[in-house]
Amino acid sequence: MTWEELADAISICQNCSLCKGRTNTVLGEGNRKSPLMFVGEGPGEQEDLSGRPFVGAAGQYLDRMLASIGIKREAVYICNVVKCRPPENRTPTREEQEKCRIYLDAQFELVNPQVIVCLGSTPARALIHPDIRITKARGMWHLKRGIYIMPTYHPAAILYDPTKEQASLYDISVVREKLRELRIYDQLSMGTEGNA
Ligand code: URA
Repeated sequence: MTWEELADAISICQNCSLCKGRTNTVLGEGNRKSPLMFVGEGPGEQEDLSGRPFVGAAGQYLDRMLASIGIKREAVYICNVVKCRPPENRTPTREEQEKCRIYLDAQFELVNPQVIVCLGSTPARALIHPDIRITKARGMWHLKRGIYIMPTYHPAAILYDPTKEQASLYDISVVREKLRELRIYDQLSMGTEGNA
């Protein structure tokens, strides 16, 4: 599947009922060749209105997280488990997540990241283990099919409970260490090639 085919398929998708409430689908954005990918839960209000991931308050926190390790948002690829906004920002159901999974898997194939950060328990459960507890698993690596995957708090959880910020900044510093170990940090902290 090409990016164009993927974007087209998502834009007209009616695989689950989330399509009924959407203004825009939210494919994802950033460097389509980035070795570092962030996966959130699903679009919120601002994302639904703009068609872009993490543009609201949670997105601003994500930008700050990245800035704390010297990486610009444009250097990474950012997307969500589901591509349409769930009503009242509820957690997408298992079924909705499963219906949308083909698109996320296509994004993994196309981007081919070496490191994935799961923002919150929805992507952590979808990508690592269905029973994962974010408070216990955050900041730790899981190696799956050669990809290093780490769960951390969702930016919205930190905005809701600022006492989690220290842990979040620690986790992202652990990501920087992994990027250094894999010798991809320098490229990420400077390069922004291949954006879309
Ligand atoms: N929360 C998410 O999980 N994803 C977004 O794109 C925005 C907020």
